[in-house]
Amino acid sequence: MHTDSTRRSCGALRATDAGTAVELYGWVNRRRDHGGLIFVDLRDRDGITQIVFDPQHPSFKDAEHLRHEDVLRVRGGVRLRPEGTLNAKIGTGEIEVGIEELEILNRSQVPPFAVNSDDPVDENLRLEYRYLDLRRPRMQRNIRLRHRIIKTMRDFFDARDFTEIETPMLIKSTPEGARDYLVPSRIHPGTFYALPQSPQLLKQISMISGFGRYMQIARCMRDEDLRADRQPEFTQVDVEMSFCTQDEVLETMESCIRDVWKRVLDIDLPAFPRLSHQEAIAKYGVDKPDLRFGLELQRVDDVFAATDFVVFRSVLEAGGAIVALRYPGGASLSRRDFDALTESAKQAGAKGMVWIALGADGVKSSAQKFIGEEHVAQLRSRCDAQTGDAILLFADAKATAFAVAGRMRNDVGERCNLRDPKAFRFCWVLDFPYLEIDEVTGQPAPAHHPFTSPGPGQWELIDTDPQAMRAQHYDMVLNGFELGSGSIRIHKPELQRRIFTMLGMTEEQIEQRFGFFMRALEFGAPPHGGMALGIDRIVMLACGEENIREVIAFPKNQVGRDLMMDAPTQVPEPLLRDLYLRSTAPEPQSGR
Ligand code: AMO
Repeated sequence: MHTDSTRRSCGALRATDAGTAVELYGWVNRRRDHGGLIFVDLRDRDGITQIVFDPQHPSFKDAEHLRHEDVLRVRGGVRLRPEGTLNAKIGTGEIEVGIEELEILNRSQVPPFAVNSDDPVDENLRLEYRYLDLRRPRMQRNIRLRHRIIKTMRDFFDARDFTEIETPMLIKSTPEGARDYLVPSRIHPGTFYALPQSPQLLKQISMISGFGRYMQIARCMRDEDLRADRQPEFTQVDVEMSFCTQDEVLETMESCIRDVWKRVLDIDLPAFPRLSHQEAIAKYGVDKPDLRFGLELQRVDDVFAATDFVVFRSVLEAGGAIVALRYPGGASLSRRDFDALTESAKQAGAKGMVWIALGADGVKSSAQKFIGEEHVAQLRSRCDAQTGDAILLFADAKATAFAVAGRMRNDVGERCNLRDPKAFRFCWVLDFPYLEIDEVTGQPAPAHHPFTSPGPGQWELIDTDPQAMRAQHYDMVLNGFELGSGSIRIHKPELQRRIFTMLGMTEEQIEQRFGFFMRALEFGAPPHGGMALGIDRIVMLACGEENIREVIAFPKNQVGRDLMMDAPTQVPEPLLRDLYLRSTAPEPQSGR
């Protein structure tokens, strides 16, 4: 009997360890009764080791009652597995451990789903038992990859002499376009802190404080509609630099990402292509293009300059646009398929869609009467379309036509399997318009935030044509996702005041919301700029996941609930009273 055993992890043992005595700790991943022997796969964070119980051994009886997820300490001797029983799929597949001592450290209830596989399970059940879900191989991999990505980022910025500064969670509202989460103050009745939507103003103030290079792995809270790539709280790598050009910020952030991809994923990324916002819209219809495939949009107004087709003619007369999109292999689609595509286009905001199928046996179209040979010849050449392809046409006001065509380009990319899940196609989008129409209010609002500086030569437009003003605002995009945004900031108080005024704020409103910041700008604020990248999205894409919940240890579900802790919940009446609050809400809705 071995007495002198060494503690090892469940993923460590190899054939060269045969003959040694070991001690292992872990969970029962699987138990099999086989030919009189009991085999237990013991699992820890590093891997799985097979433990063998012989009927002669006193612990055999206990082993008969072991269940999935029981927690064990075992001691035993490492030996080579018998010929024909090797498992090439796992690192420890050449050896097994013959039991010498078994200690059951804790029992487990029967888990509500299989922990030892990544088989699909209802997401709400996974979130309710998140501690079990996190034991599963995929989640262990994702959360540990997340750690390595964040660690690599921290090391990168540390090596470049950035200082990590923790900014507070209880602050005054910083606008990033969402609603604030509010925290009532007990000590100052009737007043509220806001949780940060981002550390934007505090990082700018740390530039005024002379730190020069700031970074933070920052938690941000935004009360907005949830989507697959949004959570109410999320993490950014947040960066700010003084006396920098836009190019220096881009170089810093791009280098950080290339460093992460190299060190964590062992992938050498090429330099990120740079597109102007205008170019991104003209070619891809969106400001976050998926560059894993081509299918560039074509504006084809001229092809239809003399058309009799009333839909196209009226759009052109009203100054709109006709945008064409190639659908590779689309000629084989049925009418019903084209109807479904038209429906998707309508969902995307189109009034309708014209399709042209370039079949080997002739051309068919939903507007057959109006599509002549000359149109087809020109469209083929403009869209680089072959026989067998289809061409989709979207006619509308210019912005709508491009936006719809851009969404349909993504749709076609998906349908034609052009989005290689293993490819990483980064790009920069630059020169955004300063203002865009806010989706909710319908009013012009900064495309980024009001601390962004207009581009060189753009200030002159502020009084004459603010809609035409361009910003020194840049986005990093990967595979159709916005990973991050940043800008060169306004550092002069009088210019900051002009922007607030342009946005319709009165002097009182400026003072009430941003007085502290305006004062800080008055004490020698250096020129500065920066950026924030969404870490959850970065990790999601690096892990090949389609949802950020898969890379966050304890996320909220699709409707913003924490199902494990059961939050949000009602609180006892006295607590509300202490905070001078009274609820006027209807009975809270139960459910998920
Ligand atoms: P912005 O609001 O564009 O910029 O946010 C930067 C990045 O943060 C991520 N992100 C989110 N991720 C998950 N869930 C959300 N709800 C969510 N919202 C944003 C995205 C986004 O690109 N202060 C500025 C940055 C700056 O100017 O320096 C800011 O926060 O990946």
